[in-house]
Amino acid sequence: MGCAVLIAANWKMHGSLAFADAYFTSAAALRWPEAQQRIVFPPATLLGPARAGAAAAGMVLGAQSIHGAAEGAFTGSLSAEQVAEVGAAWALLGHSERRAQGETDEDVVAQLGAAARAGLRAMVCLGEPLAARNAGQAESFVLAQLAALLAAPGAALGALGAVAYEPLWAIGTGETATPEAAQAMHRCLREALHAQGLGALPLLYGGSVKAENARALLSQNDIDGALVGGASLNLETFHAIARAAIE
Ligand code: PGA
Repeated sequence: MGCAVLIAANWKMHGSLAFADAYFTSAAALRWPEAQQRIVFPPATLLGPARAGAAAAGMVLGAQSIHGAAEGAFTGSLSAEQVAEVGAAWALLGHSERRAQGETDEDVVAQLGAAARAGLRAMVCLGEPLAARNAGQAESFVLAQLAALLAAPGAALGALGAVAYEPLWAIGTGETATPEAAQAMHRCLREALHAQGLGALPLLYGGSVKAENARALLSQNDIDGALVGGASLNLETFHAIARAAIE
């Protein structure tokens, strides 16, 4: 039985001030599992305005992305310090939708260092494309991403708070890894992390997690939580997923 300690919501480029207000007000009235951390990654514009509401709902806020530099001529980017100042405690790094826009393993390592300097915890996403899985290279692909991450300097690695396995072919597609396939990858990641003294790091599964499949996924031994995209925009569904984590 996984302990399902961490459930995260990635709103992606969805939401407004009114949406966030209603979401956190309703969330504060629900009964959530104890001994479970919940993180919401809203668009950065909502971090400041949602700060008090999220806290009242027992949720922690995170930024969906940060730049690796502390400041500079990077039009359109946000630094770790900037998102921390308006209420982010976490940063989501290496999401495949960011990697698809050109972010590299090296960028993720720089961002991890930036998170460490700003006192943010980092959740780093790993995952293989369909072609790698079909070629029987899913594990080697994901382990290579992990190795690149773990090559970060020790001070940067101190910011690593969770790793999310999100197979690219399962993100936003309705396709989910079978609980057994997800568990097999998580086991492999756990062993690699353990070898670096990081075996206790929460390992989250992401990719079309829904109320209907959450329980089967979260009951796997090495799945410690979920990173929920589309389904997290519906508070009732996100609540059901969080509850499934303890049932
Ligand atoms: P999804 O997204 O749940 O909509 O598949 C997951 C994610 O991208 O983090």
